[in-house]
Amino acid sequence: TLTTKFLGRTYSSPLMNGAGVRCSTAGDLEKLRHSSAGSFVTKTATLTPRAGNPGHRMSPLPYGSINSMGLPNKGLTYYLDYLTALPDHGANNFLSVAGFSEADQLAVLAQIAANDFAGIVELNLSCPNIPGHPQLAYDFDATDALLDKVFTRFPQLELGVKLPPFFDPIHFDAIARILNQYPVKYTNSINSLGNGFFVDPQTDAPAIEPKGGFGGIGGGYAKPTALANVRALHERLRDDIAQIGTGGVQTGRDVYDLILCGASMVQVATAFGPEGVPIFDRLNQELQDILTSKGYADVTSAVGQLHVA
Ligand code: DHB
Repeated sequence: TLTTKFLGRTYSSPLMNGAGVRCSTAGDLEKLRHSSAGSFVTKTATLTPRAGNPGHRMSPLPYGSINSMGLPNKGLTYYLDYLTALPDHGANNFLSVAGFSEADQLAVLAQIAANDFAGIVELNLSCPNIPGHPQLAYDFDATDALLDKVFTRFPQLELGVKLPPFFDPIHFDAIARILNQYPVKYTNSINSLGNGFFVDPQTDAPAIEPKGGFGGIGGGYAKPTALANVRALHERLRDDIAQIGTGGVQTGRDVYDLILCGASMVQVATAFGPEGVPIFDRLNQELQDILTSKGYADVTSAVGQLHVA
């Protein structure tokens, strides 16, 4: 089977969408809900609806994608209304949220706490595309201060964090030391490789328009960095903090690698764009074939089972 346990819940597959791609409308979310994905996450919601950055803002690349969407979304109320209307009040689903300041983040969480959403909150500390707003998790002091307030004020929320990629053991140590101080339920690594750049060979121009062409890189380019971040955090975080692995998943082998590094759920974003929900049928089959050939009875048995000398 592909059974995986996550935050005391049991899922029939570890696969889900990554926040951002094909998850902005109730129609998108209904397709996911009726798919073979084990769960789904919403587009990152902000307190009020946003149109996002203007112009051509997402482009496929030879080995992945670049985007500078700018958090286009229908606003927190829309996603809360959708989730709480589900039969189980969204108990097994993920609501991704972000704010533009500490006060804004806390206001978002206050609205969630005042609702009867029964699921999991994914706090996005890593959107790379808002002009003037850095990826919060690169500011360790600000992240520590925010989490202190979050868990003091909203101890009832089941909350994990979507992290940007880190590239140095010192930074893995720093973020893990902060997260280990709080009752954070899980980490999701990684968000886009922030502020990459691509020159379109047809036009000699940047591949996307916002922010002068700088944008978050996803897809194949991200996979080794995703594996490194999941592995590094799995080694450093408390055992009761789960990992979601995200970055460069195109095949069952990619899913399996993230599981070996410590992920108990795995998200697919760039590749989900062109393929749509049938990608979950394909990845489930490819992952099941690998687990069977390796002798694992389910996903949970394989989590963290990297072979190390
Ligand atoms: C957005 C883009 C991302 O790549 C991301 O990780 C988060 C948010 C966005 O611009 O909407």
